[in-house]
Amino acid sequence: MRIASKANNKDMATSKGRILVTGGTGYIGSHTTVELLDAGYDVVIIDNLSNSNRNVLDGIEAISGRRPDFVEADCTDFGALEKLFKSYPDIVGIINFAASKAVGESVQKPLLYYRNNLNTLINLLELSKRYNVKGLVFSSSCTVYGEPDSNPVTEQSPIKPATSPYGNTKQICEEIICDDIAAGAPFRSIILRYFNPVGSHPSALIGELPNGVPQNLIPYLTQTAIGIRKELSVFGDDYNTPDGSCIRDYIDVVDLAKAHVIAVERLVEGKTESPVEIFNLGTGNGVSVLQLISEFEAATGVKVPHRIAARREGDIEKVWANPRRANEILGWKADTPLADTLRSAWKWQLALRERGIM
Ligand code: UD1
Repeated sequence: MRIASKANNKDMATSKGRILVTGGTGYIGSHTTVELLDAGYDVVIIDNLSNSNRNVLDGIEAISGRRPDFVEADCTDFGALEKLFKSYPDIVGIINFAASKAVGESVQKPLLYYRNNLNTLINLLELSKRYNVKGLVFSSSCTVYGEPDSNPVTEQSPIKPATSPYGNTKQICEEIICDDIAAGAPFRSIILRYFNPVGSHPSALIGELPNGVPQNLIPYLTQTAIGIRKELSVFGDDYNTPDGSCIRDYIDVVDLAKAHVIAVERLVEGKTESPVEIFNLGTGNGVSVLQLISEFEAATGVKVPHRIAARREGDIEKVWANPRRANEILGWKADTPLADTLRSAWKWQLALRERGIM
C-alpha cells in the first residue's frame, strides 16, 4: 500500500470531516471527490487504478484547488484497507464506488465480479464497525429493476432476477447492507440506484476514460464523432418504443456527484429516517438511442455516423426513473439540460485529443 499525500491548501479548521472514497479516481468517483472537496470535506481516495489513472488526481486538484489524499491499494485486501483506517482515524463516512462495472465482461468472468464487488463491500462494512464510521453510501444501479413492468420506476418497483453477474452483485450488495444493519451494525447506509450517468465536468479536466473499445453509448458516440470509430451501431430499432430504439434515463454525472454529497452529509449528521434508505437517481425523462444521437448532433453541430444493428443481448427495452423520493427527501434534482451534458461529453473528447490521450 502506498500513500501519496499533499498538504491541502484549504484551512483544515473548516473541514467537515474526512470521507473515504473508494474507486475515487474512476468516472463517478472523481466527479464526486470534486464536489466533496468543494463542500468542505477532506477526502482520502483508495483505488487500485485497474480502470483509471493517477493523473485524475491532477484534474481534481486543478478544479478544486485541493488535492485529495490517495492510497493505491485494492479494497479486497483487508490488511491494506485496515492500514488505511488506522492512518486516517478521522474518516466519518464512506462512499463506495470501487467495483467492476462492465456487464458483458461480468458474464465472461463472473468470479472476478463476485470477488471484487462483494469482498470490497464486506471489508468496508467490517472496518466501519471497528473504526466507528457513521455511514456508507453505496453505488447501486437501475439494473436491479431488470425489465420493469411499467415506467417510470419507483424505489418500490419489484426487483427482478439479475440478467448478468454484474447486476447480481448490485442486488447481493444491497442485501448484504440490509442484513448487516438488521443484525445490529452500528451505522447507517444510503443506497443510490443510478440510471445512466453521462457527460463530464464542464471544465473537461476530468471525465469518463474507458479502457479499450467503449461498451457504453456515450463514449462510443463521442469516439465516433471524433473519428476514432467508423460508425456507431444502434442496437435494435424494433423495440416497442416510439422510434424502435431502447429508452434510458441519462443523468448528468455532476448532478449525480452532488447527490452523493447530500447523502453522505445526511449519514454523517444522523439525519436519515431509517437505518437504510434507498433513492433512485435519474432525471425522470426517458430518451431513446436515436433521440440521443439527434440531441448530440443538434447540441454540438457534429454528425455521428451510425447504422441500425442487431439487438444487444441482455439489453432492457425501456427504463426511466421516478426521482420524486430523492427530489423531496434529499432536496436534490438532476437539472442539467441534456444538451449541456452532451456538450460536456464532447468537450471532454476534444480535450483528450488535445492532450494526445485519445
Ligand atoms: C448498463 C447497465 C447499468 C450499468 C451501465 C454501465 C443493465 C441493464 N444496465 O447500462 O446497470 O450501470 O451499463 O456499465 O445492465 N447502445 C447502442 N450502441 C452502443 C452502445 C449502447 O445502441 O454502441 C445502446 C444500448 O443498447 C442501450 C443504450 O445505448 O439501449 C445505453 O447503453 P449503455 O450505455 O451500454 O448502458 P446500459 O446498458 O443502459
